Amino acid sequence: MAELVGRVALVTGASRGLGRAIAELFAAEGASVALVDLKRSWAEQATATVTANGGRAIGLGADVSDRAAVHAAVGATIAQFGRLDVLVNNAMWNRYEPIADITPDTFTKMVGVGLGGIVWGIQAAAPHMRADGGSIINIGSMAGRLGSPNALLYAGIKAGVDGLTRSCSIELGRDRIRVNAIAPSTIATEGVLAMLGAEKIKDRVARSPIGRLGETRDIAQTALWLASDRSGFVTGQSIAVDGGIGHAFYP
Ligand SMILES: NC(=O)c1ccc[n+]([C@@H]2O[C@H](COP(=O)([O-])OP(=O)(O)OC[C@H]3O[C@@H](n4cnc5c(N)ncnc54)[C@H](O)[C@@H]3O)[C@@H](O)[C@H]2O)c1
Repeated sequence: MAELVGRVALVTGASRGLGRAIAELFAAEGASVALVDLKRSWAEQATATVTANGGRAIGLGADVSDRAAVHAAVGATIAQFGRLDVLVNNAMWNRYEPIADITPDTFTKMVGVGLGGIVWGIQAAAPHMRADGGSIINIGSMAGRLGSPNALLYAGIKAGVDGLTRSCSIELGRDRIRVNAIAPSTIATEGVLAMLGAEKIKDRVARSPIGRLGETRDIAQTALWLASDRSGFVTGQSIAVDGGIGHAFYP
């Protein structure tokens, strides 16, 4: 039985990686999906796959760090599908570098996308969810809970995602809008595999209690559960989807 029939979802950063997997699963489960990415053509390419598989979807271009662009994307979604039930704040722009190398431009861009994008998304979407309730899913990271080198900004932003998720869940709870986060560990997206290389991948698999990297479907299935009524009493949580690495200690 499809779980999201009649629902409308907007997913940011949906042209590849986790966002794309989430958008594809939501559409396969009956949702109408707005796929949003920096360039409209990227979003439309991913949308073509969804519609070729029988899903209902539109592709929209928006820089999520731009408040007006995010509000416009939510407006276009409402204009197309008439409502909005689920928002997945997934888009991120990231640079790992030593503390000394961080520039004001990098700071502004990473914070603008990683936190600003979520703030503008929630601000634009929440008023449209008040009538029937809704589910907001912010993609955080285990990097927000565990320390790692060259990740000062990334880790700080992702810890911030957990914090704003908790506060939003309190503010929006009475409107029956649930707000949760997912904290993935290393997930085998094309970008991550290319960035890590074979040695680091081997090392991470060896340290994983479950003995593998995460797959995009691991995150998409968790997002589906958070989007659906099955998680109806869950809000303000950051759910680790990490194969147990967050609790691993090898003395
Ligand atoms: N892949 C992992 O191992 C992993 C682990 C933990 C957390 N995450 C988080 O999951 C999310 C997705 O990760 P991914 O690996 O799929 O990333 P990715 O880089 O493959 O995809 C990110 C998407 O966001 C889009 N994007 C970037 N800047 C944007 C902007 N300003 N406006 C709109 N769209 C923009 C990109 O074009 C791209 O489509 C991110 O929030 C990331 O931090 C990923």
